Amino acid sequence: MKIAILGNGGREHAIAEQISKSDKLNKLFCLPGNAGTKSIAENVDLDIYDFDKLGKFVEKNMIDLVIVGPEKPLVEGVVDFLTDRGIKVFGPNKICSQLEGSKIFTKKICKKYNIPTAEFGVFSNTLDAQKYLQKAKKPIVVKADGLAAGKGVYICEDFETGKNAVEEIFNGKFGTAKQVLIEEFLEGEEMSYFVISDGKIFKKFNTAQDHKRVGEGDMGKNTGGMGAYTPSGLINKELDLKIMKDVIEPTFKAIKDMGEKYKGFLYVGLMIKDNNPYLVEYNVRMGDPECQTILPLLETDLLELILSCCEEKLENQSINWKNKKSMCIVLCSNGYPETYKKNLEIPNLGRISSDENTFIYHAGTELVDNKFYAIGGRVLNFVSISDDLKKSREIVINKIENLNWKNGFFRRDIGFKILDI
Ligand code: AMP
Ligand code: GLY
Repeated sequence: MKIAILGNGGREHAIAEQISKSDKLNKLFCLPGNAGTKSIAENVDLDIYDFDKLGKFVEKNMIDLVIVGPEKPLVEGVVDFLTDRGIKVFGPNKICSQLEGSKIFTKKICKKYNIPTAEFGVFSNTLDAQKYLQKAKKPIVVKADGLAAGKGVYICEDFETGKNAVEEIFNGKFGTAKQVLIEEFLEGEEMSYFVISDGKIFKKFNTAQDHKRVGEGDMGKNTGGMGAYTPSGLINKELDLKIMKDVIEPTFKAIKDMGEKYKGFLYVGLMIKDNNPYLVEYNVRMGDPECQTILPLLETDLLELILSCCEEKLENQSINWKNKKSMCIVLCSNGYPETYKKNLEIPNLGRISSDENTFIYHAGTELVDNKFYAIGGRVLNFVSISDDLKKSREIVINKIENLNWKNGFFRRDIGFKILDI
């Protein structure tokens, strides 16, 4: 089969690596891909948001299946566009993608279907929002409704910061805003829970813990994710059941009641308190870097699994995992998540090896004249699988130290909440 993967991050490199191992694969394209995918696929520098061009490329190259990595093309309706042209594509359609594309859409579902989540209010003007902020218990969380690349969430300690957040959102910091979401601050520990669905049923696709803050001890600014490990230290049978019954099943029921089918990965962002789940957010794709830490544990052929979803036959497909743990640490450009230099060489990268238990997934990298360059904030993902997370962390840190890249930094404390450092 000929497969195309859309996206250029670490998540897409990890997906490409799994797909490239499938016996069913004849040819793999990454659009646009990165320096890592270049060694296992043909990178094609095509604007994936130009759906017309994308459709023509897929038809011309007789691609059998398109796998969508990131949320933006999903929310913009790439699945609907390609499906209408008769192209097979894995990912949710535009309406289902509102689960990530509109936080207010998701909150309304939570309310209607009694899904545990933070108490909230939706406001269409500054004055009403301010009135609510004044009375609300602090900290309080102010959110932009639409996609904001992880930046549209403000945790506000007092009225003033809340008021500023509302103003920034209404002033268009994240695009035109008709409404703002204000919600209760949830105490607890976060967990990323994944499922895969064929539109008829869904199955669990492992758990992880992400580390979104830039600094050790979870301090500093929010990032796309500095590292993750799997499985989450919080998961247990009782919690698993509650997440399925109280959160995910009613969400799929809501989608069905709308006359829609959800096909693809679903990322369930949860806050866990006293072994009870509260929904923080949905993402309509795999997490990044959760995907990089989860996929190396997958024993099932990912391409077969995805095809079973496209054909609505997930019921007959088992999902098997290696009985190991996995950790991913992200190497970032100095300055990230704020400004950082681009096009800096990573001189030793070609000398750093991977093996069956260690993996290097590229993100913001480019290969020019056989030299690797950093072109993004998150540059490389180092992953190790073993019986013990501490051991995995040591192996990964060792690899990053061997790389000795002067222009980058990383967190040494991924997993600190369950590893005592
Ligand atoms: P989101 O973009 O919705 O994932 O939010 C980004 C991050 O903000 C989450 O991963 C949480 O760490 C935090 N967050 C969002 N909503 C809440 C909330 N209601 N209570 C506490 N933390 C929150
Ligand atoms: N790791 C967070 C995300 O993928 O949104």
